[in-house]
Amino acid sequence: MPGPHDTLGRPLRDLRVSVTDRCNFRCPYCMPREAFGPDHPFLAESRLMNHVELVRIVAAFVALGVEKVRLTGGEPLLRSDLPDLVGAIKALGVKDVSLTTNGWFLAKQAASLRAAGLDRLNVSVDSLNEATAGKMNGLGFKVSRVLEGIDAAAAQGLPVKVNCVVQRGVNDGEILDLCDYFRSRGHTLRFIEFMDVGKTNHWSTSQVVAAQEVVARISARWPLEPAAPAYRGEVAARYRYRDGKGEVGIVSSVTEPFCKDCHRARLSADGKFFTCLFASTGWDVLSRVRAGAGDTELRDYLNGIWSGRADRYSDERAEILAAGKAREKIEMSYIGG
Ligand code: GTP
Ligand code: 5AD
Ligand code: SF4
Ligand code: SF4
Repeated sequence: MPGPHDTLGRPLRDLRVSVTDRCNFRCPYCMPREAFGPDHPFLAESRLMNHVELVRIVAAFVALGVEKVRLTGGEPLLRSDLPDLVGAIKALGVKDVSLTTNGWFLAKQAASLRAAGLDRLNVSVDSLNEATAGKMNGLGFKVSRVLEGIDAAAAQGLPVKVNCVVQRGVNDGEILDLCDYFRSRGHTLRFIEFMDVGKTNHWSTSQVVAAQEVVARISARWPLEPAAPAYRGEVAARYRYRDGKGEVGIVSSVTEPFCKDCHRARLSADGKFFTCLFASTGWDVLSRVRAGAGDTELRDYLNGIWSGRADRYSDERAEILAAGKAREKIEMSYIGG
């Protein structure tokens, strides 16, 4: 297998790129309004990777074995050159170029993203109930518009998966409604355990609904059976509905961590390379690019970082928290969820 392996033998295969640290939503589990208000120090435009810089850094990762690139944020559709970025990354020969979005601007942009070569996308829908959805996006935005965005993407032939962060006492009563809606439309829905990302989301274990509880609740209504992962290290565990109506997925970073097969690198909107979602510091790739680093120098730099990687935060979370050693964590909107 070409490319570097880290100290735990994990190859570098996926890259998640945050194209902006901004978002139009304020989901309390990610960018709570009180922490991301008008005074929040978002990155200045000049600090973001521009088109040329971003594509150049992605190309260096591709040369090291990256096969999947996911554009994320913040909200990636806030970036006006997104279709151009998709086109340029496809032109590097990346097999799977995808997007994670809140869907608010999707209806308008689905056709241009498709035309640019986007392969698929994941859209967040935490509730179908307008009151709950408005609460979970922090600003009362209507989920009906997000659902229209999903329909528009599907009409363009783009495969859509749906992400739902489950929080006990907030939306866990809506699991079956969500399953019903998305299985009847042929979209895979993934339930995500509420994670302790960043330092502002007031995470507590009491709000986490364990993956196995979600599976049991769905199975009691529509029996499920486990399905094989689509690729080694797939983040979501897959389950098939026994009645043949598609699949659901569960992302269980808290109760069943999946670090041992983690092949994901992250690039923040200001061009820093993070080797874990829960890392405290990143490696400043963009500064090197701006200082004139050549392609070989860039590749060697990334290669060295990955080769020294030992991150497995989710595997260690329980111990770290029990020991009261919580570390300073970067916000997910910056690092690229
Ligand atoms: P595909 O399987 O390629 O469709 O994408 P994905 O599920 O990896 O991407 P998506 O952006 O939809 O992420 C779904 C959830 O998984 C989000 O809550 C992510 O934060 C979480 N996630 C993705 N990668 C990791 C990871 O490496 N570690 C942890 N702990 N969570 C992750
Ligand atoms: N826990 C779990 N998932 C989260 N996301 C954002 N914040 C959290 C969190 N604290 C999810 C979003 C989106 C994806 C990129 O990450 O809902 O689907
Ligand atoms: Fe924005 Fe996504 Fe974070 Fe919600 S989860 S605030 S939509 S980046
Ligand atoms: Fe990978 Fe870090 Fe997530 Fe573990 S916690 S799966 S090492 S990103």
